[in-house]
Amino acid sequence: MRNEAQTEYWNGDAGQNWVRNADKLDLLLLPFVEALLKRVDLKQSEHVLDIGCGAGALTLSAAAIVGSERGAVGVDVSAPLVNLARSRAAVSGQPATFVVDDASSFRAEKPLDAAISRFGVMFFDDPAEAFTSIRRNLRPEGRLAFVCWAPLRENPWATIALDAVSAMLTDPLPSPAPGTPGPFSMADADDIRAVLHGAGWRGVQVEAFRPELVLPGETVPEIAEFLMQMGPAARVLQAQMLDHNHVKAALCERLSQLASTGTQIKLPSSTWIVSATAS
Ligand SMILES: C[S@@+](CC[C@H](N)C(=O)[O-])C[C@H]1O[C@@H](n2cnc3c(N)ncnc32)[C@H](O)[C@@H]1O
Repeated sequence: MRNEAQTEYWNGDAGQNWVRNADKLDLLLLPFVEALLKRVDLKQSEHVLDIGCGAGALTLSAAAIVGSERGAVGVDVSAPLVNLARSRAAVSGQPATFVVDDASSFRAEKPLDAAISRFGVMFFDDPAEAFTSIRRNLRPEGRLAFVCWAPLRENPWATIALDAVSAMLTDPLPSPAPGTPGPFSMADADDIRAVLHGAGWRGVQVEAFRPELVLPGETVPEIAEFLMQMGPAARVLQAQMLDHNHVKAALCERLSQLASTGTQIKLPSSTWIVSATAS
């Protein structure tokens, strides 16, 4: 089965973890909602697909613009995240629909005007096939706009926890082979262009977007807990079975150097905002 490992991953502890931290993650990732909606420039009554929608923050913001019944559809392989997205839609009253499905084979009921994604497109086993299939859901001239991470080392918000515990690591950090599905699988701008051109998209634009991100949490220990549960550090900490308290103390010390009373901790990020047109 296509994307089997990622489907299992996002339906397991990772999905539950994301559900528990969804509000904090949405705060961290807020700048990307605004940037994507500006790029895709949705109009009222358009139909839009959110690829790998997770808990639906971007889908719901898109639904608020397009307005029509079933105008915004979020697709995700993760049942726990789609359940959360559905309850958020019910509470907010936004006209969004959520489907548990693999976005690389999902078929929309009718041709879409746009497809968007906030960090939901880096997990395909076969990106060329996935982006071809996604394109076939769009009408001619339909728009694609997504954001993905640039290389890990350009993202201090993600590396701060790894750096703080580097002296405790028992094994070297894993370095996945290029193209392995995961958060940084589309970190190379030339690779992105090649994949999208190969998948039949035209007018491909890959623009650097480097907002500072507010680390979520009211206190330094709360931010440290968040960074230990989410992002690249979490996998390493679990895999290497590092002592929770030692890690937290080292991370708090590092974060305290950045914090001054009453101010937020912000760290740079580095991403690609990618846009293209369906031919
Ligand atoms: C990093 S999370 C981003 C979630 C959401 N877009 C957000 O910004 O909050 C990646 C999401 O992609 C989903 N995903 C991974 N592979 C997928 C696939 N083949 N089809 C649909 N969703 C997928 C995961 O379940 C997860 O919810």
